[in-house]
Amino acid sequence: MSSTREESMALAKRALTHFVARTTDQAPGIMPMPVAAYTDPDRYRHEIERVFRRQPIALCLSLELPAPGNYVALELMGVPVLLVRGSDGQARAFLNVCRHRGAQICPHGSGSARVFSCPYHAWTYDDRGALIGRYRGETFGEVDTDALGLTPLPCAERAGLVWGVLTPGVPLDIDAWLRGMQEPLSGLCLGDWHLYLQRDLPGPGWKVTLDGYLEVYHHDSVHGRTVGKHTVGNLLVWDTYGPHQRLVFGRRTIGELRDLPEAQWEPEKHIRRIHSVFPNLSISGILGDHCLVSQVFPGPTPDTTVTRQTVLCSTPPATDAERDAADVFSAMTLQAVQDEDYRIGAGIQAAIRSGANTEFLFGRNEPAVQHYHQWVAQLSA
Ligand code: FES
Ligand SMILES: [Fe+2]
Repeated sequence: MSSTREESMALAKRALTHFVARTTDQAPGIMPMPVAAYTDPDRYRHEIERVFRRQPIALCLSLELPAPGNYVALELMGVPVLLVRGSDGQARAFLNVCRHRGAQICPHGSGSARVFSCPYHAWTYDDRGALIGRYRGETFGEVDTDALGLTPLPCAERAGLVWGVLTPGVPLDIDAWLRGMQEPLSGLCLGDWHLYLQRDLPGPGWKVTLDGYLEVYHHDSVHGRTVGKHTVGNLLVWDTYGPHQRLVFGRRTIGELRDLPEAQWEPEKHIRRIHSVFPNLSISGILGDHCLVSQVFPGPTPDTTVTRQTVLCSTPPATDAERDAADVFSAMTLQAVQDEDYRIGAGIQAAIRSGANTEFLFGRNEPAVQHYHQWVAQLSA
């Protein structure tokens, strides 16, 4: 990770100050949120449309399309998407749908191809989405080939991620959307990492799930044996960039800095950064050589999500020890998210219509959760 010493020192100082005083960054007040915001199906459809289908989201990591011809075909929130790096090096996104009669042209998965051939009647498309061939075209009849390329989705590549909008034709200005978040994201050098593994985890509803990614209040009680071992519970250093947020936690060693001259500080050893890109991407470097990228995709109803977890290593593991370290990291993040966060979330989900609460409360020590919900409201208005 490339980040200036000055910036790391400033973050470590903020974390140390909180550690010594047993404080945390806070919102001005407690924020109530009606439980209906989690359960109302009409509100859900409206918010998903406004927040997830009309705003840019991260579709994949740049390193999933390492070379020209590489593709990823997947379904994102019910939308069949084909991501391709063209022979010109540019990453593009298309609807993975044939322009003849709508068959999905590429099976889900990843690989390398110069030409995509529809499995139904064998129309072919190149790596920039152009229709380049029609089986027995002379019998089919004349068509305007130029108008029958794969339907493009708005797409742009920045900071090691391929961003896109899931609705064709919506204007995309990725720099305006990322705002000041682009710099901290670029500092992660995501394009230089090695993709170790990827998995999809079913989880509770969109907001129940996301809330858990945005506070450190639960870390001692829920993650005491996993990721919470390394961090100070309820200590948050918080910065916002438009809707996006950076959460910095203190590691348990942060107190050591108290008695050390600043010139001797190695600040990165004592903090942990989470980059939370609105509305559904979280990037966390938990242990120095490993990184967890989480993309949370809302399901068809308010009570389910699928989280795509990608585990990255700073370099491809070359020895048994390095493979073991990557496996340990991977297992710990799986346990923390699946067995700890999502187990609590499943319980919340199962009880959410019990009538116990008409509203939930976001504490002053949960400012990032408050910020998230304020942006959902703003974009859905
Ligand atoms: S649907 Fe693709 S070629 Fe007919
Ligand atoms: Fe958690």
